[in-house]
Amino acid sequence: MKRLLIYLLGLLVIFSGLMNTGCGEKKEVPTFILVPKSVGHPYWVEVERGMNAMAKELGVKAIFNGPPTGSSALQISIIEGAISSKVAGIGISPNEPEAVEAIIKSATEKEIPVITFDSDSPNSLRSYYIGTDNYQAGKTLGERFIEIAGTKGKIAILTGGLGAMNLNERIKGFKDAIAEYPALMTVSMQANNDDEALALSQAEAILQSHPDLLAFVGVNAPAAPGAARAVKALDKKGEVKILGFDTVPITLDFIRQGYIQGTVAQRPYMMGYVSLKVLYDIHNSKEIQLPEGFEAADKIIDTGILFITPENIDEHFPK
Ligand code: BGC
Repeated sequence: MKRLLIYLLGLLVIFSGLMNTGCGEKKEVPTFILVPKSVGHPYWVEVERGMNAMAKELGVKAIFNGPPTGSSALQISIIEGAISSKVAGIGISPNEPEAVEAIIKSATEKEIPVITFDSDSPNSLRSYYIGTDNYQAGKTLGERFIEIAGTKGKIAILTGGLGAMNLNERIKGFKDAIAEYPALMTVSMQANNDDEALALSQAEAILQSHPDLLAFVGVNAPAAPGAARAVKALDKKGEVKILGFDTVPITLDFIRQGYIQGTVAQRPYMMGYVSLKVLYDIHNSKEIQLPEGFEAADKIIDTGILFITPENIDEHFPK
């Protein structure tokens, strides 16, 4: 409760939306907000960097504020605060797609445009979803898994929040891709709520119960590095395979050291960058004009993925 009050107070100050023009007179600058699932993780820092770059290009104010850990209730409180402060547009990466439908409806009733980014709420009144095609990304992970880890053995899946649509779509895509190999068995699935320390302790417990584990499959950013720490502690490098998502610095390090064999690279910077542009265009009642290389199909703007392995890491992430 106290934390929430501090958030809301902070927002009040930021949402004042007034900028000094330097001539003594004050000019109103539109203020937008992006609400991630949580704040602090390097994945989200990249989204914020992209948002800030676009805010600078457009000369608008943009706030990046979410709960300390994945919580729909706190996301909703932050959005309620943003609506009362009459922001010019709201972006949200929902921890649970249904939980935000009502608040998205009330924002749109007040003519505040809403988009989703990173994870969607497809039955809400959001204008666009901007982010990865998560089902396809999960499928890619499954196809590459077969090449890297083979077609026989025990798999443990590490996810973030059990209600997160993007992560559940990744799991579905992954499972569909390996479905024709009955000798691949999922023996455990754990939810780390986007917390790497929890991912590590879960991976350790899984290795204790399944010493013959073939592979960890991580579908959120902290999963693969959490698993890599556990595999490192037990000196099982390469023996237990690890495939995951995202290219945060610790994941890239573990790929270079040979602990992680592959990761799906999303484009979090671009999610922040494109999301703000879309909100800005809708706010100005303009047809949306996307940065080069992006297009909208069925109200979805796919930001794309790459698959990073020890073989191509230096090409895409030069040291
Ligand atoms: C997902 C986010 C998640 C983040 C941190 C990313 O892979 O796209 O939704 O919050 O990992 O766990």
